[in-house]
Amino acid sequence: MSTEKTPVTFASSFERDIYEGLTADPKFLYSKYIYDRRGDELFQKIMELPEYYLTRAEFEILRTHRKEICQIFRGSKGFDLIELGAGDGKKTRLLLEELDKDGAAFSYIPVDISQNALHNLEAKLKAEFPTMKVLPRQGMYFEVLQQLSSYNSRKKVIMVLGSNIGNLLHPQAITFLKNIESSMNKSDMLFMGFDQKKDPQKILDAYNDPGGVTAAFNKNLLVRINRELKGDFCTEKFRHWECYDPESGTAKSFLVATEAMEVYLKKLDLRIHFKPWETIHTEISQKYDDETVTWLANQANLAITETFTSTEGSYKNYVFKKQ
Ligand code: AVJ
Repeated sequence: MSTEKTPVTFASSFERDIYEGLTADPKFLYSKYIYDRRGDELFQKIMELPEYYLTRAEFEILRTHRKEICQIFRGSKGFDLIELGAGDGKKTRLLLEELDKDGAAFSYIPVDISQNALHNLEAKLKAEFPTMKVLPRQGMYFEVLQQLSSYNSRKKVIMVLGSNIGNLLHPQAITFLKNIESSMNKSDMLFMGFDQKKDPQKILDAYNDPGGVTAAFNKNLLVRINRELKGDFCTEKFRHWECYDPESGTAKSFLVATEAMEVYLKKLDLRIHFKPWETIHTEISQKYDDETVTWLANQANLAITETFTSTEGSYKNYVFKKQ
């Protein structure tokens, strides 16, 4: 039992979430906090790993089907393309290029938590497509979704790539989809990427590369806590561990303490005890099949209208409309 007194106030939701996660039993940390500047860099490296098939699979779908996808996006008065979690926009560029080429009337609204990522993306797009209407929005998905109903003078296309929804457990994914659905009108659409169930070994390899990039990515949580909360985590005393349950389709990442230790977070005046082999759960990366995606959509009053599949069905992008 912990005898620590709870600090009455936290300076930020980061502080509160870290406190809650590290005083919980079992311990956990939210994967969204991996993505500081260093975390963004490590994720870029992950996307280039030969084992991390997701990015290439989705790229292949967008490249192969870009004409058809852009055709589906079109509206009679043009459309607003709203991308949640735009990041560096490498994959989206393929679609933007296609839309630009045939003179589609549209605005591109990239949404991301990282102001830095948005800034770079805007500069790149301005240079390449000088006449394109690019209107970046900084914020969390949920906050920005609230404001989206203001875009209702013409068709909205909401886009979430990279199987980012996979970081959510099904109940949270349904809440997320419901939120999107409630901001949609009848002619609006949602275009979303879902990584599919496949050979379990392929999934384990994607989240456990031999060079240790994924391990460093997860451990970046500890590095960030050390820097921002004046902590003294020894990152070498934690081991990155990946599990995949082929029945539920849930891949789970852990950091496992290799020995007993005390960690002190000065900023929170919090002492955390680890037993040998105690775990910190850091991320889930859910894998799907058509039945599960149909069920999730149904729960949120959405219906699948189109499906685009990569070679061997490893990854799929779905188009959804309101039911
Ligand atoms: C960006 C959430 C889709 O879960 O596959 C990559 C993040 N984690 N390697 C994923 C991630 C470990 C990625 N998502």
